[in-house]
Amino acid sequence: MERTFVMVKPDGVQRGLVGEIIGRFEKKGLRIVGMKCLVPSRALAESHYAVHKGKPFYEPVVEFITSGPVVAMCLEGPDGTIEMVRLMMGKTSPLEAAPGTIRGDFANTTQQNLIHGSDGPETAAVEIALWFRPDELL
Ligand code: PPS
Repeated sequence: MERTFVMVKPDGVQRGLVGEIIGRFEKKGLRIVGMKCLVPSRALAESHYAVHKGKPFYEPVVEFITSGPVVAMCLEGPDGTIEMVRLMMGKTSPLEAAPGTIRGDFANTTQQNLIHGSDGPETAAVEIALWFRPDELL
C-alpha cells in the first residue's frame, strides 16, 4: 500500500468543490486515512513549500495557501497511488491540464489550481508527517 498527501486549496473550498474532488478519489477506490479542515499558518505553509524558497512563485503560493481554509488529506491505495493521484489532478498549468482531470475540468489559473498532491514517495512521507500527527491517521 502507498500513502500520499493531498490538499484541496482555498479556491477549491471557497468554490464548493471539496465534495466533487474527494468524491473522485473515493470512487477511484482510495481510502481516506486522515482528513482535516484548517487555515494553514504561515510557518506550516513555508515548511510545506520550503523546496521552492527563492523561486518567483514562492511568496504568492505561501500567501495563497494561508488565505483561507484548506482540506488536508492523507489518502491510501495500492502501489502507484502517489502517481495516480497526480494524474487525476492534472498538470499545474490549466493550459496543460487535460480534460477529465480535476484541474483540467475546474481550474483556469496556475495560482488557483484547486489541489496539491505529493510528487513522490519521499515528499509524501515528509508532507504527511508535516500535516498530521501519527494519532490523526487511521
Ligand atoms: S516547479 O519548480 O516546476 O517544481 O514548480 P511547480 O511544480 O510548477 O509549482 C510548484 C507549486 O507552486 C505553485 N505555483 C504557483 N502558485 C502561485 N502563483 C504562481 N505563479 C505559481 N506557479 C506555480 C504550483 O501550483 C505548485 O503548487 P502545488 O501545491 O505544489 O501543486
